[in-house]
Amino acid sequence: MRAYKAKAVERISLPDRAEREANLREAGYNVFNLDAADVFVDLLTDSGTGTMSDEQWAAMMRGDEAYAGSESFHRLQKAVSDVMGFERIVPAHQGRGAENVLYGTLVSEGDYVPNNTHFDTTRAHVVNSGGEPVDCPVESEPGAPFQGNLDVDAVRDLADEVGAERIPAVVVTITNNSMAGQPVSVENLRRAREVADELDATFVVDACRFAENAYFVQQREAEFADASVAEVAREQLSYADAVVMSGKKDGLVNVGGFVGVREDDDLYERARQRGILYEGFTTYGGMAGRDLEAMAVGLREAVEQEYVASRVEQVAELGELLQEVGVPIRTPTGGHAVYVDAAEFLPAIPREQFPGQALVGELYREGGVRGVELGEFAFPGEDRPQLVRLCLPRRTYFREHLEHVAETFAAVADRREDVVGLEVVSEPEMAELRHFSAELRPVE
Ligand code: F0G
Repeated sequence: MRAYKAKAVERISLPDRAEREANLREAGYNVFNLDAADVFVDLLTDSGTGTMSDEQWAAMMRGDEAYAGSESFHRLQKAVSDVMGFERIVPAHQGRGAENVLYGTLVSEGDYVPNNTHFDTTRAHVVNSGGEPVDCPVESEPGAPFQGNLDVDAVRDLADEVGAERIPAVVVTITNNSMAGQPVSVENLRRAREVADELDATFVVDACRFAENAYFVQQREAEFADASVAEVAREQLSYADAVVMSGKKDGLVNVGGFVGVREDDDLYERARQRGILYEGFTTYGGMAGRDLEAMAVGLREAVEQEYVASRVEQVAELGELLQEVGVPIRTPTGGHAVYVDAAEFLPAIPREQFPGQALVGELYREGGVRGVELGEFAFPGEDRPQLVRLCLPRRTYFREHLEHVAETFAAVADRREDVVGLEVVSEPEMAELRHFSAELRPVE
């Protein structure tokens, strides 16, 4: 049950089929090139696309736009301290700004950084600082409760191989976005803390979706069955030395982020200086005072039981609707998105012809639905499953929209033999950034 109702609405419309066909062609079969106005149900990302509450909008009017010493900064600092347990923060314009601040401070040439799985911007910032990102996900059975966990023994093996002194940080991303949005258990975070201590490394948590992770822990980890989401949220972060946060996710805002540092004075001071250099003075860091206010309120709302339960349950609901029409998805569904196995849905299309991207195009053509491919097109040459992510913005869509997505899939399934693969016509130099701007065409 959703413990909120709509107060402001935004008109959306479904262009007719001929227009959708033309839009798709003009976009070079890449939905990043579509105008949002031409999209009916937009499941591209949950990042900064959600709906703010009336309390957040009201708080924005209080924004103190002082360059230094803003009251709004103090309110955000208090919220981070209350909700996440970090007294000291370096604000940033969004998550990747915070990543630049933290990894630029921690990582040097020749270092290795293990992470349960690096998100693409995290990987890029580790590389940019001269480090080598190493993914250490656990192998888990389908259906397992904490498929996002870090393989701590793989981190020990890495240390044996390269030397502990080459590992400045151990990172755990909660929930694990690159691993179908799967959660991480508190037990695993404790073990990650131990391994970081053994290696004398800084233990960093990428906390973008910390509230969703806390909800899964409450539901699935016996020790926390009677704890509130707010209590779990603090407990799970209490093991970390530092957090990187994109407020665009569980900060419930459209823009903003920060680094939180617990005790390490030296790390905080260096991060702060780098923050001033790249993001802005420490009491605003790339955000307007009103944005700081919105995040201060959003962080508190994110750990309210009713909110986060309805959030995670809505994602599960989309998963169920898709399964009812026979769509193969990763289960259990993650906290922010449903991940569809495109290779299984379109078995006739070989990997080199991007089954995931072909499916993304068909979802737009059929129903004006926008998802994102996370397979061969986004990660060229990597040994990954061919997935399509359907990401739900927070507090934004209703059940009717989810039903429309399921109906769209059913209609594509009915004509799946006719769906053809795609080939790349033009692409940018950096392979890692291909899916944002490359253009494609259907294979003849
Ligand atoms: N870390 C994780 C785990 C993320 O999912 C993201 C963004 C970032 C860092 C960077 O944050 O966008 O505020 O700069 N993920 C979005 C997504 C873009 O669609 O999954 P940002």
